[in-house]
Amino acid sequence: MLKVNDVSTYYGPIRALKQVNLHVEQGEIVALIGANGAGKTTLLNTISGLLNPRHGQILFDGHDIAGHSPESIVRLGVSLVPERRQIFSTLSVRDNLLLGAYHRFRRDGKSLDGDIAKMYELFPILEKRQAQMGGTLSGGEQQMLALARGLMSQPKLLMLDEPSVGLAPLIVREILRIVAELRTRGATILLVEQNARAALSVADRGYVLENGRIALEGKADDMAKNVAVQSAYLGKRDQR
Ligand SMILES: Nc1ncnc2c1ncn2[C@@H]1O[C@H](COP(=O)(O)OP(=O)(O)OP(=O)(O)O)[C@@H](O)[C@H]1O
Ligand SMILES: [Mg+2]
Repeated sequence: MLKVNDVSTYYGPIRALKQVNLHVEQGEIVALIGANGAGKTTLLNTISGLLNPRHGQILFDGHDIAGHSPESIVRLGVSLVPERRQIFSTLSVRDNLLLGAYHRFRRDGKSLDGDIAKMYELFPILEKRQAQMGGTLSGGEQQMLALARGLMSQPKLLMLDEPSVGLAPLIVREILRIVAELRTRGATILLVEQNARAALSVADRGYVLENGRIALEGKADDMAKNVAVQSAYLGKRDQR
């Protein structure tokens, strides 16, 4: 479904991604782990069109999307739930969800009530809070709202940038439970996490990014067994 071939992305003269190769198949959950500054967000932003790679190819469903506009990439079915949530704090929970579907809304003009009901089924807390302003939700609730908003665009590929950052262990488990639940519904997910153990527990495969390069890749189970010995690769976990 997604194939990243030899991608290098720069910030001015600084090369933040160095010939990265990665692929995600339909129905897979793939974890991308690595320390602060490894380039995880840069990679997601490059895939979603917020950054232009200087070299390489990004194939999604057979189209080369490298350098395309973020809007056109969303329309092809790639949705990014960014770091630090970025929900609309002065809009209600319900309106935040509606905005997640605005591409589809524009196209078919149909009611989104059914889609919203599905999100409330998946995240019951959001139904209780539906009229509340986004900015007044707790951190964990905001993360669930961001996830639900990402799902409202009915993406083929959902990319999550550190959904567990700053959340209590119980909420982290809840978010990962939902990620696992989405997989049973056929979702394809690229999950960025510093919490390597948690990410690998729900993933099929994983990659370790180190200083802009893929340093390690493999089956999630095998990588999880390696976590202790590979702590050098995995960097400092759970530090935030
Ligand atoms: N706008 C920018 N301009 C210049 N350098 C940047 C910019 N954004 C990121 N970088 C640098 O690129 C490198 C990769 O950053 P990136 O945000 O992708 O890391 P990350 O793996 O997502 O880290 P974290 O876990 O802290 O979110 C870092 O060295 C960072 O300082
Ligand atoms: Mg990041």
